[in-house]
Amino acid sequence: MSLPIPVPDSILSLKALQAMIKQRSVLGALEVFSNQLQPVFELTLPGFKTVMMVGPEAARFVLVSDRDDFRWRNEADPVAMLLRHGVLVEDGDFHDRLRRAMNPSLHKQMLNSYVNGILHYTDHVLDRWEDHSPMDMLDEMRRIALLVLMGTLYQTNFDPVIDQLWNAVLKTIQYISPGLWILWNQVPRPGYAKALREIDDYLYQIIRVRRANPIDGDDLLSLLVRRSDMDDDLIRDQLLTMLIAGHDTSTALLSWVLYLLGKHPEAMSQLEAEVMRTDDQAPVTIESLTKLSFMDQVIDETLRLYPPIHLGSRLTADDIEFQGYRLPRNTRVMYSIYLTHRLPQYWDNPSAFRPERFATRPLPYTYLPFGGGPRNCIGAAYAQVEVKIILMRILQRYHLELLPRPVHAHMGATLEPRPGVWMRVQKRKRLTRVF
Ligand code: HEM
Repeated sequence: MSLPIPVPDSILSLKALQAMIKQRSVLGALEVFSNQLQPVFELTLPGFKTVMMVGPEAARFVLVSDRDDFRWRNEADPVAMLLRHGVLVEDGDFHDRLRRAMNPSLHKQMLNSYVNGILHYTDHVLDRWEDHSPMDMLDEMRRIALLVLMGTLYQTNFDPVIDQLWNAVLKTIQYISPGLWILWNQVPRPGYAKALREIDDYLYQIIRVRRANPIDGDDLLSLLVRRSDMDDDLIRDQLLTMLIAGHDTSTALLSWVLYLLGKHPEAMSQLEAEVMRTDDQAPVTIESLTKLSFMDQVIDETLRLYPPIHLGSRLTADDIEFQGYRLPRNTRVMYSIYLTHRLPQYWDNPSAFRPERFATRPLPYTYLPFGGGPRNCIGAAYAQVEVKIILMRILQRYHLELLPRPVHAHMGATLEPRPGVWMRVQKRKRLTRVF
């Protein structure tokens, strides 16, 4: 006999509502439900029902042991409409073929070839920072992340069009963020069609240009246009997928890192000291980055507290059972990375920022910032190198001080610090230039 999936009662829902108002985030409410009802509970809103799964057993079930019983693609979700046949929203052999086609450009061996590009575009943005000025790090990190992604993976300088396409990128991200469409999919989207047209025009154009002027190398765009089995539409779907999945995540992570460092000046000083010990004139390599071990801990802890992808969404492909709970075919399931990262039975004082907890490895499947199993994040190695280089460069060149403005965790396409992370930037005397 299977068990009914727990549903929050009205007392728990009231507590959740209070937590939501206090934290200005739905995540506060989910944490209340999770602490009481984990590892599985149902959430029902008018027109929308999902089963939330929390904890290491649930993650292992969804990501590894029963992964073939789940589908990624959900035709009703805007993300499938936007990305069409992008690797992120495909299943089965077709997904595996797309992933194999892109893998070499994100392979560890390729990363050293991206280092100079990452430094170059980071410096390009940092050069614009005015001494002693307050800046919104959410915007600045997005600018760096966009330029870096386009400049390395597509070997395309995005700088001439970044301002022109800025709002279009934001509109597109807003389109796939949780919102009223969850309750009512006819909700109007002013400006979205135009934004998508602008981005598509640009992506089809860089595909045409690369076909006409091939370059040597295994960057993602070159790899894709070289294939005889991919037409421009299918390549556009992969480029848009990687553009969004690859920059919005790093933007969120970097902004949260800076926010948390600003909130914890002792951690900021420790990290600044570690960065200053590196030789700022020596060439940066993947090897040299391994010396920044406290930075690794700061990044890991930030990913634990504010995982940019805070849940994975699936549909059951069959009737299945998890720990006695029956999940009928076509149930929407969300495994929560955010809630798993804050389970008190695995994390001491889970809401505290303590980078040093990562001096030891977390237990399997308690920590999943890049997902897990065969469909884990294809860009994980790239992102970890990228974020470290950007952070190192910022701290080599500037001292940052957080301005006291309230920030809350906003569930957009990623988990973002909203309304932004305002910091005063102060140039360091010793200027570092590689180029
Ligand atoms: C801090 C940075 C990043 C984080 C935290 C992150 C997180 C994740 C997570 C959690 C998943 C799995 C989601 C699930 O199980 O439903 C995922 C998948 C994916 N990520 Fe990332 N990601 C990051 C950066 C990147 C980058 C830089 C790229 C591309 C350049 C990328 C491309 C993808 C793609 C295409 C998938 C789907 C893979 C597949 O289904 O086979 N991500 N990411």
